[in-house]
Amino acid sequence: MNYGPASKFYDLFKSDEDVDFYRRLAVRCGGRVLELGVGTARVALELARAGVEVWGVDASQYMLNVANTKLRKENASVRKRIKFQLGDIRDFHFNEEFSLIYIPSSTLEHCVSEEDQSRCLTCVYEALQDGGLLAFDISQRKDASKSTWWIDRRELNQQEEVVRIIFSRMNQQTGVVSVDLFFERYHDGLLSERFHELGEVRIFDRGDVETLLKNRGFKVVEVYGDFNHSPPTGSDSRLIFIAEKKLE
Ligand SMILES: C[S@@+](CC[C@H](N)C(=O)[O-])C[C@H]1O[C@@H](n2cnc3c(N)ncnc32)[C@H](O)[C@@H]1O
Repeated sequence: MNYGPASKFYDLFKSDEDVDFYRRLAVRCGGRVLELGVGTARVALELARAGVEVWGVDASQYMLNVANTKLRKENASVRKRIKFQLGDIRDFHFNEEFSLIYIPSSTLEHCVSEEDQSRCLTCVYEALQDGGLLAFDISQRKDASKSTWWIDRRELNQQEEVVRIIFSRMNQQTGVVSVDLFFERYHDGLLSERFHELGEVRIFDRGDVETLLKNRGFKVVEVYGDFNHSPPTGSDSRLIFIAEKKLE
């Protein structure tokens, strides 16, 4: 996905069910943490408000612009704890190390090829301190083989609303899901803006992820079926992994 000008609507459709999970983990880890695909800082801001030093990397200047606008409204101590950087999660390097690197909202699925996944996890490994943690969530779509669509709407004010339409379908040969995303803004029922975004995501199963992590030097320490730390049931709509950097 390109996360272009329609990024201004991203937070309208957000769900914050993951925030408490990542905030508790970050507070427990202490020190400096890094979010990959930080976007509008939906999660990162909450961590900084809780006293955590958070850095974030994202490839979309549009998403980072939204994040910076939100950050400007925070008090000085929160602003001091956050740092955003334009960059690619498959190719990032910092001089500093992190106690935790976390990847919310299924963002790892944007690493579609095995090479992308491997590059991302190699960077994560190098950026983590010894014994540091990697945490992320992925979606589980039982019907991923079918094409599917859904539609949501949000009111902006009394006259305006934004409608989001999503089409997704899986390529049976590659197992990659193509996603078309439309955002439409209406003023008194008249279309005033329309944005189209197109992208691809990889749907992982638990075994894929465990193999990937093992091959890149991580030990899986926890797997959950939801953000309340419930064990996986086999029919979960998402999976959450916590893995530890093993020493070579
Ligand atoms: C689903 S959004 C998640 C945003 C935020 N983490 C959240 O949870 O609200 C995915 C984000 O990942 C970013 N992204 C996707 N692929 C990327 C890449 N290869 N490098 C850097 N950022 C990437 C997008 O620009 C977007 O902001």
